[in-house]
Amino acid sequence: MKFFIDTANLDQIKEAQALGILDGVTTNPSLMAKEGITGATNILQHYKDICKLVDGDVSAEVIATDFEGMVREGEALAALNPQIVVKLPMIADGVKACKYFSDKGIKTNMTLVFSAGQALLAAKAGATYMSPFIGRLDDISTDGLGLIAEIRLIYDNYGFDTQILAASVRHTMHIMDCAKIGADVMTGPLKAIKGLLKHPLTDIGLAKFLEDYKKGN
Ligand code: E4P
Repeated sequence: MKFFIDTANLDQIKEAQALGILDGVTTNPSLMAKEGITGATNILQHYKDICKLVDGDVSAEVIATDFEGMVREGEALAALNPQIVVKLPMIADGVKACKYFSDKGIKTNMTLVFSAGQALLAAKAGATYMSPFIGRLDDISTDGLGLIAEIRLIYDNYGFDTQILAASVRHTMHIMDCAKIGADVMTGPLKAIKGLLKHPLTDIGLAKFLEDYKKGN
């Protein structure tokens, strides 16, 4: 299972990378705005800075909502660094753009996926990644993890190569449940990733080992 961090915060990306478990980064326009990164030039520079910090894939989202605009923006993003994955919205022109980039060997991430039907279309268009937003579904009393399971079944039925990138992960249990279902990738906040570390018996056990070591030395 690949671990992506869902942020545009460079310090958090550095911290996750230093842990040695990071496979990539996902961003979106809201995450960029949260870090105060605005304007095309600054945004492009920020993607370059993120690519320098990590070894893996970095999703960079287009703003255009028409095919030509998405192609223009996506090509500019992809030219920044081979690590860039062009992130496209799950609308008709986004599917067309996904097919265009797939045919050119440029990596894609279909975003804002909320149904198995959308996931099927993303796979048919040759998406590298396809991002179902599980937290946002949970927010409206709909089973986000159930959607991951449904898509896993469909993709396995036909051997689609598109990777299920569980997005809008909100907490540590989301990560564990996605792992059990077989999501290929999860993207979430640093706090949720670090939550996997925690167990009181680890802390108690370590304190006891150190105490006993000190007694004998
Ligand atoms: C995915 O690529 C998105 O950036 C992200 O996971 C959205 O998460 P949110 O619902 O917490 O905003």
